[in-house]
Amino acid sequence: MAIGTVKRIGILTGGGDCAGLNAVISSIVRAGGPMGYEFVGILKGWEGILDPPMLKPLDVKNVRGISHVGGTMLRTTNHGRFAAKIGEGGASRIPDEILHSVARNMQANDIDALIVIGGDGTLSGAHQLMELTGMKVVGVPKTIDNDLDGTDRSFGFSSAVEIVREELNRVHTTAASHDRVMFVETMGRHAGWIALYGGLAGGANAILLPEFPFEPADLADFLRNRVKEGKLSSVIVVAEGAHVGGALSTKKTKVDGEAQLGGAAERLMAAVENCAPNEFEMRTVVLGHTQRGGSPNAEDHILARAYGVAAIDAVHAGEFGCMVSFRHGKMTAVSIAQAVGKLKLVTPDDPVYSAAKKIGLYMGGKG
Ligand code: F6P
Repeated sequence: MAIGTVKRIGILTGGGDCAGLNAVISSIVRAGGPMGYEFVGILKGWEGILDPPMLKPLDVKNVRGISHVGGTMLRTTNHGRFAAKIGEGGASRIPDEILHSVARNMQANDIDALIVIGGDGTLSGAHQLMELTGMKVVGVPKTIDNDLDGTDRSFGFSSAVEIVREELNRVHTTAASHDRVMFVETMGRHAGWIALYGGLAGGANAILLPEFPFEPADLADFLRNRVKEGKLSSVIVVAEGAHVGGALSTKKTKVDGEAQLGGAAERLMAAVENCAPNEFEMRTVVLGHTQRGGSPNAEDHILARAYGVAAIDAVHAGEFGCMVSFRHGKMTAVSIAQAVGKLKLVTPDDPVYSAAKKIGLYMGGKG
């Protein structure tokens, strides 16, 4: 039966959407109902528990048939009054009156605890809320970027990688037909996991990540050598956060959230053209939000199911302030403070990064 003072639990999804969110929501409700808990959905991320609250009762009936559907039935936002992140590792302080209004609205709506499904930004907000108001929170790691340090895997990542792989297969055949160099831009703001895994799985010839600086002239040399070897087409994967010419490609700066990235592939193509005028016929493809849309693949669907159950189990065990975490093949928990402390980035000794390098892909970086 439901423990102590916790009876009614609010569930919210924050930050960018991804495949698997609905499977987490459904699992929490389906596992938690028989344990004696009641649920309320908080709409539009943290916005839905600020003034005026936007709530939706949740029970087994209204979570039926949603787990394979992409996106989030609770809707979400990655900006607004609760935005807690600016750039890599930088947290901005949410005003106390905003944090207090969450606590007030939870109490007014008989919400005893929150299950917060989100990435670095959403969970940083949860951390500030807990510190100031003592509200009870359990976190679930969600990000297609897979850059949350407290877990080996966040759900949404595997589906995004699969989309990149599928799209690269398509890009290869058109590149080969036209003897072209294709620059494919993936998501990956601070961490290049999607580009690395998707690029390797999709047979990219070069992969450029935010973590590893590179010179466009070196890439042009690499492409030139490929042509000399009779490889007339090439596919280059570039993460949106890769630094082209030492700088980030920013589209728009938001006042209440992180800057919108975009343009890395275009800028890289222009930089290569600059080093090798008229030498290559080149095009760009931006995969964009297709990487976040659609149904979860098998791995994410299963992981999301397991995370949902782990979250309600953590509430039941009174483990507030923790984020459920998948580590070394086991479901465990870490403190939210630790989870948002630093990002998990690709390092030179990462086995997938070094494998890509050893089989001859151009990966930037040293050596
Ligand atoms: O954080 C996940 C992410 O997919 C980043 O890789 C990307 O920069 C961002 O979301 C894009 O968000 P949106 O365009 O929805 O604001």
